[in-house]
Amino acid sequence: MSENNSINRRDFVKSAAVAGAGLLMANSLNVAAQTSAKKRYAIIGTGHRATSMWGVQIAEKFKNEIEFVGLCDKNSKRVEAAKQLIGVDCPTFTNFDEMLAKVKPEILMVTTVDSTHHQFITKALAKGIKVITEKPMVTEANQAQAVLDAEKKYNNPLIVTFNYRYAPKHEKIKQIVSSGEIGEVTSVDFAWYLDTSHGADYFRRWHRLKSGGGSLWVHKATHHFDLANWWLNSDPTEVTAYGKLNVYGKNGAFRSTNCRPCPHKEKCPFYWDMTKDARLMKLYAEAESVDGYTRDGCVFKEDVDIYDTMSAIVKYSNGVSMNYSLNAAMPYEGYQISFNGTKGRLDIRDYERQPWEVKEVQEVYLTKNFTKKREKLEMPNIRGAHYGGDNRLQEVIFRNAEVPDYLKLPSARAGAMSCLTGIAARTSIEQNRPVKFSELIKL
Ligand SMILES: NC(=O)c1ccc[n+]([C@@H]2O[C@H](COP(=O)([O-])OP(=O)(O)OC[C@H]3O[C@@H](n4cnc5c(N)ncnc54)[C@H](O)[C@@H]3O)[C@@H](O)[C@H]2O)c1
Repeated sequence: MSENNSINRRDFVKSAAVAGAGLLMANSLNVAAQTSAKKRYAIIGTGHRATSMWGVQIAEKFKNEIEFVGLCDKNSKRVEAAKQLIGVDCPTFTNFDEMLAKVKPEILMVTTVDSTHHQFITKALAKGIKVITEKPMVTEANQAQAVLDAEKKYNNPLIVTFNYRYAPKHEKIKQIVSSGEIGEVTSVDFAWYLDTSHGADYFRRWHRLKSGGGSLWVHKATHHFDLANWWLNSDPTEVTAYGKLNVYGKNGAFRSTNCRPCPHKEKCPFYWDMTKDARLMKLYAEAESVDGYTRDGCVFKEDVDIYDTMSAIVKYSNGVSMNYSLNAAMPYEGYQISFNGTKGRLDIRDYERQPWEVKEVQEVYLTKNFTKKREKLEMPNIRGAHYGGDNRLQEVIFRNAEVPDYLKLPSARAGAMSCLTGIAARTSIEQNRPVKFSELIKL
């Protein structure tokens, strides 16, 4: 078949691991499966993610399953703004312990700054509350250990919201890789590109500091490392990495505190006018007086201590090696991944956003050794909401949506393994040496 011939609905599900799994009810982590009444749901950290995917969307789509009983944020004005944006009528708090004591939630959603997740996760697991945490689960190895230990001690499995797994396209990649079509996978080439809009946005916010998001190695790459671990069905064991800050932070020729009062608006290619977004103004600008946090911070602030240019070699327990890179100031957004196998190669190229017209936003090819031709594969192509992963994940968590076994809800182990790849990469750069997982965690 020539490379231009698309294959319609070809079924690649051959391996026992995938085909044998069949359709199972979501695993015991499924919060909706616990009792029949509406679940008492509370959120800690009521910023963007809490008010959107885990706020207004849950209040609207799952009103028969979920009752909002409490919202908590350390910023008193933001938590009130969040309540209005979500459109619920429940008490608000600035003290987490007080919220747990007063409203006794059955489910807690953790959507605070990444480096603080572990505090809330461990406390709530100890109280027997079902905890759902946004990625990255943690930003440091000792936090990962604390969460794993708490999950085990209280026999209370955590849910880590790896929404990218639930994208139909990523499920299809899982099926193809597991099917044996390209034989045993020997290595992976994985490159992720963040453009000068989305990539720059991380340098405007708390993410610009390792103490907030653990660097993009953890905050962003946790998604990619989780996908790789899941696709390969293996654990990473060692990482060697390089990283540099080439564009943002100290590299700027001028700077200000944030975009709104900036005297360099006219000449700055990264100038961003937050005042055009009423929701963001309400959530952040109107809450600035409480903690001084500016959502439109200058990307050239001198305190930026993370990297915008990153590459790593990751070794896996099954012998696979992965070359990974993440660049955060690119002219376009998307990724390329190739799985190299003993019988062939699977190539995926995705444009999420690019400044030129493309005929196809994604291209996927399967090339078998010695056949001298490649097959173009048709793949699910949902755009937005993490390639359709967000909606499906919500359905699995809150409505028992049926999923194959390999899509059962990820717990602390998956959360830890993906974060630890980034933590190992960060450590490798700081200490200029390969870092083994056995140095970081006891599983
Ligand atoms: N899965 C995804 O695709 C995805 C997308 C966006 C964000 N996220 C994750 O969601 C989480 C929230 O991100 P966001 O974009 O909403 O950030 P945000 O800055 O909008 O919100 C974070 C909120 O946490 C609050 N907070 C911080 N520390 C706190 C503490 N100690 N106690 C109480 N409140 C505290 C802040 O005041 C803020 O309101 C992060 O972990 C982020 O990585 C995931």
